[in-house]
Amino acid sequence: MIEDTIDFAKLQEAVYEQRSFDDASVHGVSHWKQVEYNALLLAKMNGADVTVVRLFAIFHDSRRVDDGYDEEHGHRGAELAKEWRGKYYELDDERFEMLYHACKEHTTTRSTGNVTIDTCFDADRLDLPRVLILPDPDRLATNAGKKIATLGRKLGIRCEEYREWIRNLVF
Ligand SMILES: [Fe+2]
Ligand SMILES: [Fe+2]
Repeated sequence: MIEDTIDFAKLQEAVYEQRSFDDASVHGVSHWKQVEYNALLLAKMNGADVTVVRLFAIFHDSRRVDDGYDEEHGHRGAELAKEWRGKYYELDDERFEMLYHACKEHTTTRSTGNVTIDTCFDADRLDLPRVLILPDPDRLATNAGKKIATLGRKLGIRCEEYREWIRNLVF
């Protein structure tokens, strides 16, 4: 299968190299890694496309210009994914469409009904505790995401411990 040829580590490094701001940011590589982790956990629960969600983790915040309110960064990240397709990685049209939409709309759309795109959204939103916002189950798009956010609230998981808590979750 085509996706098995993607070298995610190398791709992430290349995307990282083209970034225009410092990594000490809340949208830096530790966020990308956590989004990937969250996405893979969700995908295990709901069958989302693993290749698409991993690529989303790498591209979705790749073209931020700063850590502030940057409404167009999703669109720019989607465009980078488009530019680099065929050069740095291969993906069939159907899955590329999902990746493109997930990146483009991740800040503007709550849910789409497409489990892979919605899993991308939730993987990103489940890392909101890094900016001291607890994920709200009502604002998540997938049942798997809602389940995790609901559990986190029920157990009283604090923002500071959220990443570690998610990394130790077993479903
Ligand atoms: Fe973003
Ligand atoms: Fe993000």
